[in-house]
Amino acid sequence: MAKKRILVTGGAGFIGSNFCNTHCNTYDVTALDNLFLGDPEHLLPEVTFVEGDAADRKTLDGLGLFDCVVHFAGTSSAPMFLEHVVDAYRNSILSYLEVLEFANRTGAKKVLYASTSSLYGNTPPPLAEDQPPVPTNHYSVTKIAMEHISACYQRTHPQLDTIGFRFMSVYGPHEEHKGIFANLISQFAWGMMRGEQPIVYGDGKQTRDFTNVQDVVQGITRAMETKTRLGNQIFNIGTGKSTTILDVIAAINRSLGTNVPPRHIENPVRESYIYSQLADIGKIRTMLGYEPSVPLEAGIRDLVAHTKNPAQVSARDRRAQANAIPT
Ligand SMILES: NC(=O)c1ccc[n+]([C@@H]2O[C@H](COP(=O)([O-])OP(=O)(O)OC[C@H]3O[C@@H](n4cnc5c(N)ncnc54)[C@H](O)[C@@H]3O)[C@@H](O)[C@H]2O)c1
Repeated sequence: MAKKRILVTGGAGFIGSNFCNTHCNTYDVTALDNLFLGDPEHLLPEVTFVEGDAADRKTLDGLGLFDCVVHFAGTSSAPMFLEHVVDAYRNSILSYLEVLEFANRTGAKKVLYASTSSLYGNTPPPLAEDQPPVPTNHYSVTKIAMEHISACYQRTHPQLDTIGFRFMSVYGPHEEHKGIFANLISQFAWGMMRGEQPIVYGDGKQTRDFTNVQDVVQGITRAMETKTRLGNQIFNIGTGKSTTILDVIAAINRSLGTNVPPRHIENPVRESYIYSQLADIGKIRTMLGYEPSVPLEAGIRDLVAHTKNPAQVSARDRRAQANAIPT
């Protein structure tokens, strides 16, 4: 029997490449990426890589038919919206609409897409899917819009399931291309491997629900593979545990065998800084059987083992900074 076909947009990115590599032996996986940020070197040879834009209808139509589309493409963090806000909105919203239309006209059964926990703003944790979104920056506005677009789309095209995922703070291998936009754990680990002190805003007691990328892959996979029709759904993906920044630094030190102390500075982020993050993962547990499987300490050890050359990451940081805004 022919393998099921999956299209992964943003497939050369951090989460996308981990998703593609996990599934490339079981499914026929195509990664589409315009390489604004991603790096096809992340991908295993079994993944079919296509360089192209998810907002481009002709490109999509040239890819063939898929059982399922997993959509990670888009402008992937809040600071990327600062300089070219119109382009960033265009990139995120139009690519999602084109992907929905493509999935619909080619008979795909599901579109699974990346939303974000940033849309909870400073809502007191635990963060649950039925709490109202708080649009604190353009990035979260695009994700809130994508969730509304999905709900409308599913009402008019009920044969196509649309499933969104509000990821907490995702860390893991393959994030080098994101440079200054990478997760705190990566940035701290790369710096500490170069002997640099991690810079901590304030006392370091702020918390995040740090979630290993393999658990993000697990959550999306459960929604992709379930035989139950999901319709239009939103799921948090996190661990249900929160960790302080100081505890993360201690764990990185343990995994490196170092004792690099943090350098505390006054928090330069005046508005909308998130002090605590903790997911309520009850919905995805109950509906999909998701269970976080990578403890933070093990995830950090794995990340450190994957970062072979932190000096090279430093050069990539500068490249990412120079190319921070999509054109
Ligand atoms: N990493 C996190 O902690 C996190 C948290 C919440 C949500 N998300 C969301 O998850 C998704 C993936 O994030 P990531 O961390 O892997 O970021 P990433 O920047 O590594 O991945 C996004 C990929 O999409 C590509 N891309 C951008 N616009 C495109 C377009 N129009 N057509 C084709 N490719 C395009 C980029 O080149 C990049 O490879 C994003 O939508 C992001 O907003 C990430």
